[in-house]
Amino acid sequence: MIQRTLAILKPDCVRKNLIGKVIKRIEAEGFKIIALKMVKLNSKTAGEFYTVHKQRPFYYDLVSFMSSGNCVPMVLEKENAIEDFRKVIGATDPAKADEGTIRKMYADGKEQNIVHGSDAPETAAYEISFFFSTRELVENL
Ligand code: CMP
Repeated sequence: MIQRTLAILKPDCVRKNLIGKVIKRIEAEGFKIIALKMVKLNSKTAGEFYTVHKQRPFYYDLVSFMSSGNCVPMVLEKENAIEDFRKVIGATDPAKADEGTIRKMYADGKEQNIVHGSDAPETAAYEISFFFSTRELVENL
């Protein structure tokens, strides 16, 4: 089944000038980029995006990190996109991520882990609508 997922290149990815390398990998893995933009979250918008983690001890640090610089959210489309993208990015903690995954290759730690990927169809739908209006989503099915 063709699916869409939300990816975010996080502020550490942007700061390290890795946007091009990560996008190249995403495309090489067969994902179609349906929409893409650069945004700067503030503590309110970053907090809202990660509201599901509000009770976690790392929440405030995460919000502070995600609002520390520009991010590049994008909508990716592919067969089984959600699960496949999570395989390509690897485990949250790069130390535990498989060899060759994006986080293993480029991330410094569990918080500054280069890229986000939606974890389920409902979250993907919510996260895509968080960053993109229907008008911005090119119909490409
Ligand atoms: P992401 O895939 O964006 O989803 C939630 C984010 O919270 C995760 O990537 C990390 O950036 C961060 N995160 C998850 N677990 C931890 C942790 N134990 N310590 C710090 N940050 C974390």
